Amino acid sequence: MSTLVIGARGSVGRHVVDQLLAAGESVRASVRDLASADLPAEVSVVVADLTRPDTLKAALDGVRKVFLYAPVGGTGAFIGAAREADLERIVLLSSGSVLLPYAAGNAIAEEHRSVERALDGSGLPWTPIRPLVLANNALNWAHSIRTEGIVRLVHPEAVMAPIHERDIAAVAVAALVGEAGEEAGALLTGSELLSQRRQVELIGAAIDKNLQIEELSESAARDRFGQFEKPYIVDAILEFIKAAANGGSPATGTVEQVLRRPAVPFAQWAREHAADFR
Ligand SMILES: NC(=O)c1ccc[n+]([C@@H]2O[C@H](COP(=O)([O-])OP(=O)(O)OC[C@H]3O[C@@H](n4cnc5c(N)ncnc54)[C@H](OP(=O)(O)O)[C@@H]3O)[C@@H](O)[C@H]2O)c1
Repeated sequence: MSTLVIGARGSVGRHVVDQLLAAGESVRASVRDLASADLPAEVSVVVADLTRPDTLKAALDGVRKVFLYAPVGGTGAFIGAAREADLERIVLLSSGSVLLPYAAGNAIAEEHRSVERALDGSGLPWTPIRPLVLANNALNWAHSIRTEGIVRLVHPEAVMAPIHERDIAAVAVAALVGEAGEEAGALLTGSELLSQRRQVELIGAAIDKNLQIEELSESAARDRFGQFEKPYIVDAILEFIKAAANGGSPATGTVEQVLRRPAVPFAQWAREHAADFR
């Protein structure tokens, strides 16, 4: 029986696929567009779109376990199709923000809370994975690093504990194969608290380049983020960064607890992604 990885080309999903294969599991991988599928030869590939119920029934047919990206646009299609399948376990990539009291009312946290509430009410067997800050967020700095050697930051001293996407996937796989219990759903972070400034320094060290930081006011940051995101998401991101600037972003030992090894340090994440910043 296969495990269906929904979003198998995603930054976390692709590691889930690789690690399930390494664990000897049979994997079915989903994409929305078959033409864009670039996946290991050992996986069977299906089309699944969380907004299109017709695609989900076939994708779930014969599957026992699912890795699921949070369908923040609506859970109805997935839950409807999952109820008709004979599922043993669903591991949801949620967000650690759902656990943070200071994120009450934050739009990104609320979107993920709403997905978790729907799964809770569905009667389906599900487990959340709750990373707080993806190390991959630093890829948003890649363009200005490549073209100008500059990172523009609001609150450069805000500290957070970014987590490598491979570690998130490893916790998800431990939950999928039954090697993790309730602790898989605890707040999931990297193990080092790093200011945004320090993250930029570590990226600079990885590409052997002295990077400049230009500090942005909140209103300048709002304008900049607003070029790529909806206003309510911009507000939610700024709330997180402000909370991190005020000491609200913890580092936890969840990776060590679940995987019995240390989390991958951010410096290593930066070295592995150096090509994105050159
Ligand atoms: N950024 C953070 O700090 C943070 C913190 C906590 C939690 N998170 C969670 O982590 C997620 C991002 O993870 P990531 O970096 O791995 O994302 P990613 O690289 O952008 O990948 C997203 C994947 O989801 C798939 N997908 C998107 N919409 C879909 C739909 N309607 N139906 C089926 N598949 C769909 C995409 O499939 P295709 O390949 O078909 O395009 C893609 O493979 C966020 O969405 C959030 O829920 C993020």
